[in-house]
Amino acid sequence: MGKIKKIGVLTSGGDAPGMNAAIRAVTRTAIYNGLEVVGIRHGYQGMINANFKPLYAHSVSDTIQRGGTILKTARCEAFRTPQGRKIAYDNLRAAGIDGVVVIGGDGSFKGASLFNEEHNIPFVGVPGTIDNDIYGTDYTIGYDTALNTVVEAVDKIRDTASALNRMFFVEVMGAEAGHIALFSGIASGAEAIIMPEIKGEARDISKMIETGNKRKKSSNIIIVAEGDEEGGAIALAERLKPQLKGYEVRVAILGHLQRGGSPSALDRVNASRLGNAAVEALLDGQQSVMVGLQNNEIVLVPFKKAVKQHKGLNQHLVDIIDILNV
Ligand code: F6P
Repeated sequence: MGKIKKIGVLTSGGDAPGMNAAIRAVTRTAIYNGLEVVGIRHGYQGMINANFKPLYAHSVSDTIQRGGTILKTARCEAFRTPQGRKIAYDNLRAAGIDGVVVIGGDGSFKGASLFNEEHNIPFVGVPGTIDNDIYGTDYTIGYDTALNTVVEAVDKIRDTASALNRMFFVEVMGAEAGHIALFSGIASGAEAIIMPEIKGEARDISKMIETGNKRKKSSNIIIVAEGDEEGGAIALAERLKPQLKGYEVRVAILGHLQRGGSPSALDRVNASRLGNAAVEALLDGQQSVMVGLQNNEIVLVPFKKAVKQHKGLNQHLVDIIDILNV
């Protein structure tokens, strides 16, 4: 590969607050280094449809504070096929794009990894998903904002729960992982946190309820990760009904409001760092890697590793759930 002259940038999969800050950092770092930048709209689908538009420094003005993604996003079935990826390659070549930054989650990196096995345009990834479920990075763009949104919502639910002595089952997003549930549960003082990663004795829900009962708590908040084997907050509340005779129970599903809103300062700053690092990585001749943050330092992680391995929960936080609820 010769020197990179023109890069493409796209957002892929579920949107996450802070993606615009990453697009901005990619665009401006590229321009700073004398490169041309092309925005690829609607994720990989836009690569297949050649939905490209040039990006200039001013194209990303006034975007750092906006949620969603100015490039739009999509979950693209066609890019899962070799034929789809070949069309994408031909379109990139025709547009003179010789490096790509993909901002997205593990599904997006799986596609990028396959593309780089088949074609010689380097892809570098930036982790962007509210779920924070990508191996090899402590942090993904959007996670912090989503957490703050959940905590604000649960604080409000707590007010009404206390007023009426109610038990609330609050369902949060996170796909197959419990990171949002764990962090938001700790931050909102939840009485119990139900996550897919914690099984068996470690999640004796009856015991948690019993503790609350003994303490005569005026409210009980149970955070339920959507990906838990119980099948979500409604199913769990229904299953526990016989044990909850003394409680008035309500369920709240926070849903997609967790994905929207203006990004937090942390998401804006980290997205700026990661977007910058992705372009630097391309200029250094890297490909098929994700830029991540480990112990607050930028690291490069091969896509293959990032998508194969499972990122565990923060064990210290798991250990203190019960302690904080004695
Ligand atoms: O990956 C982000 C996420 O918001 C998950 O937490 C959730 O399971 C999923 O996307 C929802 O996807 P969709 O917006 O396609 O319903």
